[in-house]
Amino acid sequence: MTDVTGEILRAPAEVGYADELAALAAADGGDRPTGWRLTPRAVRAFVVGDPALGVTRKFYGDDALVDRCVVTLMSNRGLLLVGEPGTAKSMLSELLAAAVSGDSTCTVQGSSGTTDDQITYSWNYALLLAEGPTPRALVRGPLHRALAHGTVCRFEEVTRVQPEIQDVLIGIMSDKVLHVPELDGPDGVVFAARGFNVVATANLRDRGVHEMSSALKRRFNFETVRPIRDRDLERRLIVEQTTGLLERADVSTRLDADVVDLLVTAFHDLRDGVTQDGVVVERPSAVMSSAEAVAVGYAAALDAHYFGDGRVGGEHVARQLIGTVLKDNPEDGTKLRHYYDVVVAPRARRDRRWKAVLETRAELDR
Ligand SMILES: Nc1ncnc2c1ncn2[C@@H]1O[C@H](COP(=O)(O)OP(=O)(O)OP(=O)(O)O)[C@@H](O)[C@H]1O
Ligand SMILES: [Mg+2]
Repeated sequence: MTDVTGEILRAPAEVGYADELAALAAADGGDRPTGWRLTPRAVRAFVVGDPALGVTRKFYGDDALVDRCVVTLMSNRGLLLVGEPGTAKSMLSELLAAAVSGDSTCTVQGSSGTTDDQITYSWNYALLLAEGPTPRALVRGPLHRALAHGTVCRFEEVTRVQPEIQDVLIGIMSDKVLHVPELDGPDGVVFAARGFNVVATANLRDRGVHEMSSALKRRFNFETVRPIRDRDLERRLIVEQTTGLLERADVSTRLDADVVDLLVTAFHDLRDGVTQDGVVVERPSAVMSSAEAVAVGYAAALDAHYFGDGRVGGEHVARQLIGTVLKDNPEDGTKLRHYYDVVVAPRARRDRRWKAVLETRAELDR
């Protein structure tokens, strides 16, 4: 395969972090569950970092949650990551699949239009007509491949999928077998190789997990991924992730500590509905997750780099923040104006960065 990682927008975790996975594998001693590429300790280190081996931290916050996820993947139950949007559920499932199986691309992207042949198997119709149902004519879907190879299958947004399609999972996850009745002999029964498991994600804001059948719920261990509460941790996350994104974009501009502080403060004020000084603000209904904070920081740096002098100021952050808050609910505009009046304006008298934020207020009335 030609090396295209320099050209593609985003490589899967096992490609982007191939060096780290190789370092972990080289240093890895101890028992490995059958079918796993790494020991459970090394899988954990891949997610939460191991400075001695040059492995970066990728998931911030709850390390105990990561341990529980790894344990679940060794067990005979699937792992369901639930939580608010932008809490890194998909990222965590990708990292776990990359570390456990060396492949995070065996993935179903769940939607209301997902059909069972997309997740299990379908046919190459030209070959089917020419030679009938043969193994050659079979088009293997993500679950078929994961069962046959003993790898982790990711199932994104499982609750968006119609209940009768979710039910396909029940049989596979309890019996660990997929039947292909059109094929005779051993090809017609795919037994799960060891190492097979499913990591699903579900978003609490969209269709909730309560719509999953209890039979399916029983086949998963649920883990709730919560937003980051700790400001210092969120600062580190923003610095590291925006730096990574800017490096990849060949942009030399970086966010300095003051601007990261401003960004984190604004997000926490609006998320919590109260500032650290106790001023009450109205919480917008728009999603204000860490994923949004990283996106705002990255876009602010691009704005300063290409349209400014390369120094990121409050005005760059504020413009992106307005775009994040003003999505579909007009009331969010009123709430943000209120925030400008009761929080930003007093801060602007003491601090030039907040003054730059205040100067963007007119953009709220566009
Ligand atoms: N605890 C965290 N550790 C690391 N990154 C985080 C964390 N929380 C949020 N992020 C940010 O979120 C981004 C990934 O969000 P991801 O798409 O995985 O979220 P999600 O929970 O799957 O959201 P959705 O429910 O909308 O699908 C990461 O790239 C990172 O910037
Ligand atoms: Mg997701």
